[in-house]
Formats: sequence, structure tokens, C-alpha cells
Amino acid sequence: MIPVVKTIDEVRQYVKLWRKEGKTVGLVPTMGYLHEGHKSLIERAVKENDCVVVSDFVNPTQFGPNEDFETYPRDIQADAVLCEAAGAKLIFNPEPSEMYHDALTTVSVDKITKVLCGKTRPTHFNGVCTVVSKLFNIVMPDKAYFGQKDAQQLCVVKKMVKDLNFDIEIVGCPIIREADGLAKSSRNTYLSAEERKAALCLSRSLKLGRSMIESGETNAAKITQAMKADINKEPLARIDYVEIVNIETLEPAVDASGHILAAMAVYIGKTRLIDNFMID
Ligand code: PAJ
Repeated sequence: MIPVVKTIDEVRQYVKLWRKEGKTVGLVPTMGYLHEGHKSLIERAVKENDCVVVSDFVNPTQFGPNEDFETYPRDIQADAVLCEAAGAKLIFNPEPSEMYHDALTTVSVDKITKVLCGKTRPTHFNGVCTVVSKLFNIVMPDKAYFGQKDAQQLCVVKKMVKDLNFDIEIVGCPIIREADGLAKSSRNTYLSAEERKAALCLSRSLKLGRSMIESGETNAAKITQAMKADINKEPLARIDYVEIVNIETLEPAVDASGHILAAMAVYIGKTRLIDNFMID
């Protein structure tokens, strides 16, 4: 069975051994409760690296005070089975006390963390950037894998790596969906049967937006308006944001014809779901 280690020292011992043998190392950072989306990242990493580490850590510093840190689903046994099947070599599953004690240092990326999800989650990306930097320094991988499901996170991590000269290649991987279109997410477990049906309004409205662009519409405001109207037909849905932005700067796009990210966050009941598509 795949080893599950709790300490930074143990991770370093494994990686040191691999490096001695001349092996390449890939990292897949996760918060656990792994599903097919995570699995696709791990499988891609296994293809492209000799040894793959999956970090499985519900990072407290990226949750706001009224968010779901305590109730976030956890199942390390099931995660180990999935990681082993996907071909990973090691799981790093630390306690918060192993990762944080009396820290005075954080990593923050300006500007692109203030928009989209950053508007309602002002401390979220500081938490993400800090923990991802720590994981990079602990594992020191050649490549690290992130999903396009969290498009803003991917954009922020890429910028952080560039700005701070991390010698790590960031690989973005496509969104994995349920058969009916809902993007896979650990948070989907919060949805009741009725909410699960309502949650389809996210992927449905993204499909609408994409088809408008494909049939020649370039006015971003017009497209987001149509997408919002479509979501608002669903009584259980409450829009946080629906925006079309530049794929790198995350600044609002006027023209939706290319190099854009169409992103949304929508509450279904109490559960906040995100989804997006990109046209590069
Ligand atoms: P988590 O939500 O567990 O996601 C881990 C990785 O899996 C992220 O890169 C995310 O984009 C990717 N992922 C999740 N659902 C996906 C899907 N349906 N298709 C493709 N990829 C998907 O994102 C985090 O954890 C944390 O913020 C983390 C980066 C680990 C820092 O704590």
C-alpha cells in the first residue's frame, strides 16, 4: 500500500532517495476527498514523472472565518486507495500543527487575487499561495499539477512561480465533469438531491455562453447577461459572480472573441460552486 506520511522530514527523506536515483518528481497538491478530477491530475503526473507525491491537506489558512473548514469532507483511507490506483508513490497528509507553528511569513500575489473569487474571499489566495509555496519547498518537484476547474488559482500560482522564480513547471489540466455536465468537486457532497439537479445551471449557462461565442457573438457584456439570466431561472441558485475576463490579467474583457476566461461562482442553497471555460 502507498505510504501516507505525516511529517515534512519523511517527505524529504523519500524525495532525497529518489533524487539520488536520478528520478524526476511530480507534485499534485490537494485537500483530499479525492475524485475523478484529482485522479486525472495524478494520472497525468504519473505519465510525466518517475515519482509522484500527492499532498492531502485541508489547509486552514485558505478558509475564511465563516467558511467550511471544520465540515470539509475528509477520507484519507479512500484517498490512499485512489492514489495507489492512479500510480502515485507517496501521500503527504500533515496535521495543521506540522505545517503551521508561529509562522510570521505569508506569500501574497497582488491584483489578480482581488477579483472574481477574491472579492468575496479576501484572504483565500494568501492561504493558497502560502501553502503551495511551502509544499513546493518541502517536495521540490520538477512539475506541479493544477486543475483548470480552479482557473483563478491556476493563474495566481503561475504568476507566483514566475515572480518568485520557483524552478517548477506548472501544468494546467482540463476540468473533469459528471456525465450530466456538473464539474466534479469535493463540495458536491454537500448538495441535496434537489440541489444536485439545480447545480446543473452552472454548466448549462457556460454552454450557452460558449455557444454564443461560437456563433459569432463577441460582446462580453451581452454574453454574461444571457448567462446570468439563464442561471436566475433556477430558484435555488444565487449568483456570486459571472464574468468574462482576460485569461492572464483577469481584467474584465470587452471583446469575448479570444484569450478569455468565462468564470462563475454560484450558491446552490448554502453551497458555493465554481465553474468556467477558457478560450485561448
Ligand atoms: P482541491 O480543491 O482539493 O483541488 C486540488 C486540485 O484538483 C486543484 O488543482 C483543482 O483545480 C483540481 N480539481 C478539482 N476538481 C477538479 C475537476 N473537476 N477537474 C479537474 N481538476 C480538478 O485546490 C485545492 O484543493 C487547494 O486550493 C490546494 C491547491 C491544494 C491548496 O491548498
